Amino acid sequence: MSLSLIAKSIKASPTLKLNEKFSILKEKGEPVIHLGGGEPKSKIPMDAILSTVAHVNTGEVRYAPADGIPALKQAIIKYTREYYERTVSPEHVIASGGAKQAIMVALQAILNPQEEVIFPVPYWVSYPDMARLVGAIPVPAPAEDGTFYPRLQDIESRVGSYTKAVIINSPNNPSGAMYSEEFIADIVQFCEKRDIWLIMDDIYHRLIFDGKKLINCYKYAKKLDENSKIIVVNGVSKQYAMTGFRIGWAIGNKKIIDAMSNIQGHQTSGPSVLLQKAAVGALNGIQSGVESLRVTLENNRNVMVDLLRSFEGVKVHKPDGTFYCFADFSAYEKNSNKLSEFLIDKVQVLTVPGKEFGMDGHLRLSYCGTIKDIQEGIERMKWALDPNSPNELYIGDRKLVRDWS
Ligand SMILES: Cc1ncc(COP(=O)(O)O)c(C=O)c1O
Repeated sequence: MSLSLIAKSIKASPTLKLNEKFSILKEKGEPVIHLGGGEPKSKIPMDAILSTVAHVNTGEVRYAPADGIPALKQAIIKYTREYYERTVSPEHVIASGGAKQAIMVALQAILNPQEEVIFPVPYWVSYPDMARLVGAIPVPAPAEDGTFYPRLQDIESRVGSYTKAVIINSPNNPSGAMYSEEFIADIVQFCEKRDIWLIMDDIYHRLIFDGKKLINCYKYAKKLDENSKIIVVNGVSKQYAMTGFRIGWAIGNKKIIDAMSNIQGHQTSGPSVLLQKAAVGALNGIQSGVESLRVTLENNRNVMVDLLRSFEGVKVHKPDGTFYCFADFSAYEKNSNKLSEFLIDKVQVLTVPGKEFGMDGHLRLSYCGTIKDIQEGIERMKWALDPNSPNELYIGDRKLVRDWS
């Protein structure tokens, strides 16, 4: 079969593939523990449900405008005022099918084939393939000092005549690192000076710990006019646990939002009006759920980090936010795909290989599940990897025996 060059260059999303594997094992009744999840388990806000149901009850569910319904745009404008201290107008806003589509249409609107988009390592799995989908070249930028915290020089040293955009995701999936205010200021000013698009993927920006304060990129922009090349992306998936609703958005200058809306209009049309209504409910409704999710995640993070620190050979950096911990297991196995396979096969713990995020030797472990799963999952991993563990482990009444060294 003759597939396009683009189709041949794209891999299946590894996290979605792992979710499938988990579901199959679960269906077979296997006692599998999911430490690879990318979604909080809390209930969605009641205001989101009520708002959707009220619209369903009208009996009229029609096409929505390509760039979002006015009520959602207004809710996003309010959000932008509250969390970014910036007043924008509806022409600066597009609502998309998740932050994922907002990023995708932004890339389609700004990148030509062979142009480059730079992002720090480790990075969200989708960035390289999203760049490839538009025929552009992904340029991962590892931090020279080996940390999860990039410095301007790490990005600057990769900028060339083909560089068109930089994507910054802080707090970061998978490392949980929240980049310093100094770095955000540097990158905003650098991109402005070099006339490079800057996509700020802020999808986890309220899920931060240890009393950290939200960082607002606009604070450092010198010229926030219609030529500004900052695109801020956000959404309801993570903070409101509304991953299945597929609503995200982008804020940018009028021309870029117009271009993105044209692309989205032909691609999918506007997101479902029902889901947009749900997002309006979440954004305008009671906000206490976000804080209680944040507190739960901070507690889960502490439990996971403490357990991993008692795990000899594992190097762990305490995440500043998100619900991921990106731990270095290279003392046990440098090939993270092999390690992840080993853990699911031997002790039924699902983890995501670091290679998918640009850092082999690491595993991404999620703490968005229950404390019980975190404790049992890490315990099983420890048993499987630590050569000093006892020879047997019970999972319920199932006895596992080590047949590996
Ligand atoms: C860094 C990052 N950006 C964007 C997204 C996509 O979010 P959405 O569900 O709104 O498409 C994710 C989801 O995992 C993510 O981790």
